[in-house]
Amino acid sequence: MKKTYFIHTFGCQSNKSDSERIAGDYEARGYEPAKSWDNTDELVVNTCAIRKSAEDRARAFVLKVVKSYADRNLPKPKIIFTGCMLHHGKNKIMEMVTAIDEILPVNEVGFNQSAVRRDKKHAWVPISAGCNSFCTYCIVPYSRGREQSRSMEEIIIEVEDLVKKGYSEITLLGQNVNSWGLEKMGISLRKMLMSDEKFTREMIPNNQSQYLKPEGTPPFVELLQKISAFPEIKIIRFLSSNPWDFHDELVAEIVKNKKIDRYVHLPVQSGSNTVLDRMNRGYTTADYAKVVEKLRAGDPEIVLGTDIIVGFPGETDEEFNETVEFAKKMNWKVGFVAMYSPRPGTAAHRLYHDEIPYPIRKKRWEILDQIINKDNLNNRPKIV
Ligand code: 5AD
Ligand code: SF4
Repeated sequence: MKKTYFIHTFGCQSNKSDSERIAGDYEARGYEPAKSWDNTDELVVNTCAIRKSAEDRARAFVLKVVKSYADRNLPKPKIIFTGCMLHHGKNKIMEMVTAIDEILPVNEVGFNQSAVRRDKKHAWVPISAGCNSFCTYCIVPYSRGREQSRSMEEIIIEVEDLVKKGYSEITLLGQNVNSWGLEKMGISLRKMLMSDEKFTREMIPNNQSQYLKPEGTPPFVELLQKISAFPEIKIIRFLSSNPWDFHDELVAEIVKNKKIDRYVHLPVQSGSNTVLDRMNRGYTTADYAKVVEKLRAGDPEIVLGTDIIVGFPGETDEEFNETVEFAKKMNWKVGFVAMYSPRPGTAAHRLYHDEIPYPIRKKRWEILDQIINKDNLNNRPKIV
């Protein structure tokens, strides 16, 4: 009998996409997919570290699995831990979740590992991995490492293969998808953060300075044009964009290229300029609003969505109200509002100690979620 595997995935689309490639690796080694985690030879737990709650869920899941097998007097499956929690380091993870048998670094599942996709129409296609933008709250540059773009050739080969298999919808994935193909500084902020030297705000590289506007057509726009040239591809989406490299050429491409989905996801993170500065986002609300205006002026059918963090350290009532007012002005169709979660190792965790108490974060979350998502609490546009 063939050995079986099951992958339990937490977190974002990049993780779901990685899991498809991990499945590809298992199937290439002759394993069969198990129907559920409760009856499998091997269990991969693909973790997320974006907020503490995501880490808690992964830990609770492993405990649940171990208990379930023990209750049934069955040997527990081999548990393989991978994904963004790996930034904690092997020993720390083994301490946190004792039942783990193996650790699988995310980068061991390369772009080129073929994916096992359950969906037959829509495919995730990763175009870059990692992130070079050091937003002070974010663990991603540590958990996924420096940004690396996949080559145009590799991406197109994968798209050709998808077309042959009958796929018509593609979502391009990257933490900072629009910066695909751009040369960036390989900054090792991690080294700075780990050093004993006094760490100051000035030591954090400015996000925008890393993404100097390219000459001519930005590579990402070229990529969109190449993929759109396949007649079989009908819908193209991409996640996630950032305001600092949302160039006019990209706006123009979205406006005229109707294969690109009319839903554009553009995280703002805060509607207060002082908070944005502490977050090191490298733009102001006016810069953000300008991109939105250009998109809407180009095509009134364009619908926007965003991500916002409430309760960032030191966020005053006034700063929160600025976000509320900005939300009313932007009129996003959907907003993924999150309460700030301190992530050890990040610049914010090291620099800002004026944490907002949980009840206030919760209250702000409720207010903002209600304002942005009031019309579609049960009917949010699908961010596939
Ligand atoms: N706390 C809360 N939310 C966070 N995000 C990223 N880091 C944190 C954090 N430390 C949110 C951001 C990002 C989304 C994927 O998760 O809004 O866009
Ligand atoms: Fe995190 Fe900022 Fe990179 Fe997004 S752009 S993954 S929020 S560091």
